[in-house]
Amino acid sequence: RQAAMVDRFGRKIDYLRLSVTDRCDLRCTYCIPKGFRDFTEPPDWLTFDEIVRFVSVLKRRGLRHLRLTGGEPLTRRNLPDLVSRLSSLGVDDISMSTNGTQLETYAKPLRLAGLSRLNVSLDSLDEQKTAQIAGRNVLSAVLRGLEAARAAGFGLIKVNMVVMADTNMATIEEMIEFCQKSGFVLRLIEAMPMGQTGRSAGKFDLSELRERLRRSRYLQDVESTSGGPAKYLKSADGTITVGFITPMSDHFCSSCNRVRLTADGTMFLCLGQNDKVDFRPLLRAGRPDSELDIAIDRAMLIKPHRHDFITNPKAIDRIMAATGG
Ligand code: GTP
Ligand code: 5AD
Ligand code: SF4
Repeated sequence: RQAAMVDRFGRKIDYLRLSVTDRCDLRCTYCIPKGFRDFTEPPDWLTFDEIVRFVSVLKRRGLRHLRLTGGEPLTRRNLPDLVSRLSSLGVDDISMSTNGTQLETYAKPLRLAGLSRLNVSLDSLDEQKTAQIAGRNVLSAVLRGLEAARAAGFGLIKVNMVVMADTNMATIEEMIEFCQKSGFVLRLIEAMPMGQTGRSAGKFDLSELRERLRRSRYLQDVESTSGGPAKYLKSADGTITVGFITPMSDHFCSSCNRVRLTADGTMFLCLGQNDKVDFRPLLRAGRPDSELDIAIDRAMLIKPHRHDFITNPKAIDRIMAATGG
């Protein structure tokens, strides 16, 4: 069967965010709660064979974008091997969201394995603030990682900055200049409440800042190329591109094109809802494609209309690292 994946609201689903681990070498305040240790054990994780099988089925059902997430995806062993196997399936666009701490080592192997795009978290250019946000000062490693990514030939590198009123909000201009100078696309992100974290969410509105920057720096709207949630502004000379990801103040659910798979094979249909379908039993038992297709169809039928972060900020128990955002 070749049928495309379309949900009840007519949204075409062609983007999978694949979490390869829920572990991370950092402890960003908006992502992992203090003292968190209760990670899923590796035996529950899908093997590379199971992941490749699953993605090949989704590819037949119209998958065009695949993003590897975590936790921190580069803490999963032999990740470049997985990328090269996924790349040989012929998915158009394979990308990764990473905290960048190990990019200096992995940028080139990932590029050679067929990864096409990289998004890298960078919340501050200050060592102390980095330590405060991420749990330790990894700034110089991440900056070297970004350089290695550029040297490895990654074209459009995006820098993700979760904007927090108490730590980095005042440094946005500085980050815009850093990204302009380095040729990175900056994305400013509103925190979402997940598990015990992201509780500062909704305290301020990036949409206002967006209008302010538009006027002060003469930025123009540009189309997104990845079908992702960011709305972009660009300067006339093309040196500044800033994306705004505003799930709280201006959500983008009507154009949602994605689903998520956790490291242990559970598909979550929305980042801000609990609806899910467990694919692990089917994959582990080597059930035929026809059964996976039925489970995919069921998933499309229960994909929610939108998130509920505003009216029900305590709804989601799982932490961000379970689904990689
Ligand atoms: P591309 O547009 O493909 O480059 O990627 P992306 O921006 O979708 O991915 P990335 O992993 O860099 O995510 C950036 C931010 O967007 C993170 O905070 C994610 O949690 C958030 N995000 C990504 N997809 C969704 C979504 O479907 N819903 C919500 N609410 N947030 C999302
Ligand atoms: N709200 C919004 N974005 C988050 N991220 C992690 N936790 C949150 C949160 N609570 C972001 C990271 C990374 C991306 C994949 O998700 O900063 O850039
Ligand atoms: Fe899609 Fe849910 Fe994200 Fe909205 S919050 S864009 S419905 S995943």
